[in-house]
Amino acid sequence: MSIPHGIRTLGVLGAGQMGLGIAFVSALRAKVPVLLHDRSPEQVTKGLALMDKLLAKDVSKGRITTEAAKDARERVTVVDAKGLRDVDMVVEAVSENLLLKQSIFRSLAAELRPDAILASNTSSISITKIAAAAVPEGLSAASEQGKASAGRVVGLHFFNPVPVMKLVELISALQTTPETLGRAESFAIACGKEVTTSKDVPGFVSNALLMPFINEAIMCLEKGTATRDHIDTTLKLGMNHPMGPLQLADFIGLDTCLAIQQTLYEGTRDSKYRPSILLERMVDAQWYGRKNGKGFYEYN
Ligand code: CAA
Repeated sequence: MSIPHGIRTLGVLGAGQMGLGIAFVSALRAKVPVLLHDRSPEQVTKGLALMDKLLAKDVSKGRITTEAAKDARERVTVVDAKGLRDVDMVVEAVSENLLLKQSIFRSLAAELRPDAILASNTSSISITKIAAAAVPEGLSAASEQGKASAGRVVGLHFFNPVPVMKLVELISALQTTPETLGRAESFAIACGKEVTTSKDVPGFVSNALLMPFINEAIMCLEKGTATRDHIDTTLKLGMNHPMGPLQLADFIGLDTCLAIQQTLYEGTRDSKYRPSILLERMVDAQWYGRKNGKGFYEYN
């Protein structure tokens, strides 16, 4: 049976909270074999243990059968970087660092088949800049081959926790071809997600709106406008947000919030996006939020 996205094997690069979640929904919902790679073996072990836990919970709640859970788990294979060569699409979910992402896309463009889609789960970095790195060395970005290579790059922005959040934001680089965009969108739909599209502006729609909100909350705390708990409770009970902004910042990761805010500030040169000093200091102190146990709250 032909499938609109044409993805018979997916590669996922990065087994952190986002990469693992993407592997999970791809294997369980889109039913696509997933080759998962992370340079840290500990991260892979941790990720697979979480996947087993999530599948077991879905079985215990009667949402899926034991067989469906087993099939989903068996669709996920851990590979080394070279193991991604034959995939039809790769989703990159490494940390928010432009140079790192560009170097990854440079290698992917050189090593993967020319028709493979190269998607980034970046939350704020320009997809156009990432796509520019996907032109193999020696080729002009304006040549037919150069345009074709960069044209398979797209932004596919999932939200945390990926198994729960229903949205994927789809971002087209200047170079992205309509075919790449269409296939990436149908893949996200096959993963059970609703898709919104955004232009390639710093932070896209989601973080251009969310990050100033989180930053204002941190500034309220910094200025002593209210306590941590009162800031979060105001938004939770007053506006029905599932988490208060400080709790959400911890959940996303304070290092990730700062990296996104820096991208917004540098990309727009607009002072309304300037990260708060308190956030910078917390990241200086290596307090990254829930992921390492200390942020605005303490976690065990
Ligand atoms: N992975 C998988 N599932 C998870 C999870 C995780 N990390 N954390 C919670 N869940 C599941 C729980 O297992 C539970 O599932 P069941 O219904 O099957 O039992 C469900 O989510 C609800 O969890 P809880 O009952 O424990 O807690 P809750 O009702 O407070 O919900 C929450 C937890 C879904 C995280 C909710 O607090 C929420 O929606 N928070 C806001 C999350 C959000 O805004 N995410 C976007 C962040 S921005 C981003 O990701 C992108 C970016 O670019 C920065």
